[in-house]
Amino acid sequence: MSERTATPAPLSGYTFRPATADDLPALAALEACCFGDPWSEAALREHLACDCCRTLLCLADGGCLVGEVLFRVVSPEWEILRVATLPAHRRRGIGRGLMERVHAALLSEGNTNGYLEVRASGLPAQRLYAAVGYAETGLRRRYYRHPTEDAVIMTCRFPRPET
Ligand SMILES: CC(C)(COP(=O)(O)OP(=O)(O)OC[C@H]1O[C@@H](n2cnc3c(N)ncnc32)[C@H](O)[C@@H]1OP(=O)(O)O)[C@@H](O)C(=O)NCCC(=O)NCCS
Repeated sequence: MSERTATPAPLSGYTFRPATADDLPALAALEACCFGDPWSEAALREHLACDCCRTLLCLADGGCLVGEVLFRVVSPEWEILRVATLPAHRRRGIGRGLMERVHAALLSEGNTNGYLEVRASGLPAQRLYAAVGYAETGLRRRYYRHPTEDAVIMTCRFPRPET
């Protein structure tokens, strides 16, 4: 079994759980800290209410929200929409821990492949995605606003189960 499909290791000092409507103000605050084009609380509420959309959170001991991954599943395919870690908690394995947990759930549900877009200047995010199994497969010119920028498309395919 590949590294990304194994049960994710616990991360000392942090726990992971799905988001609920009670998390909306903290999620909006996290977005505002991490992005130049943050999702509003209304956009986040719409995401939480959507049947095929899901959100996994990372909380520090004490309950402070420090990380998020927002994604959408149309089986057997998924799309990663947002990944963020509060600046003071970066490079501690939270982004990787979120992505590994999402992948473990997606694999157990029989999903096979996924994709995402990432800002061309977003090298930390591109390295994180590469570290958990995504490869660059395309470019969308001037895809982002605030600021205008190209998007790199990255895709991931789970290995076929051994027979
Ligand atoms: C991208 C982001 C989510 C990474 O979160 P994180 O919790 O710091 O990531 P991790 O600590 O799990 O890092 C996992 C791997 O990603 C890569 N990585 C993460 N940050 C990096 C950086 N600043 N420079 C280079 N590589 C980096 C490394 O390979 C790292 O593994 P390593 O620490 O063993 O070298 C975080 O920097 C962030 O929130 N950025 C702003 C929002 C954003 O750009 N989101 C992505 C687009 S939706």
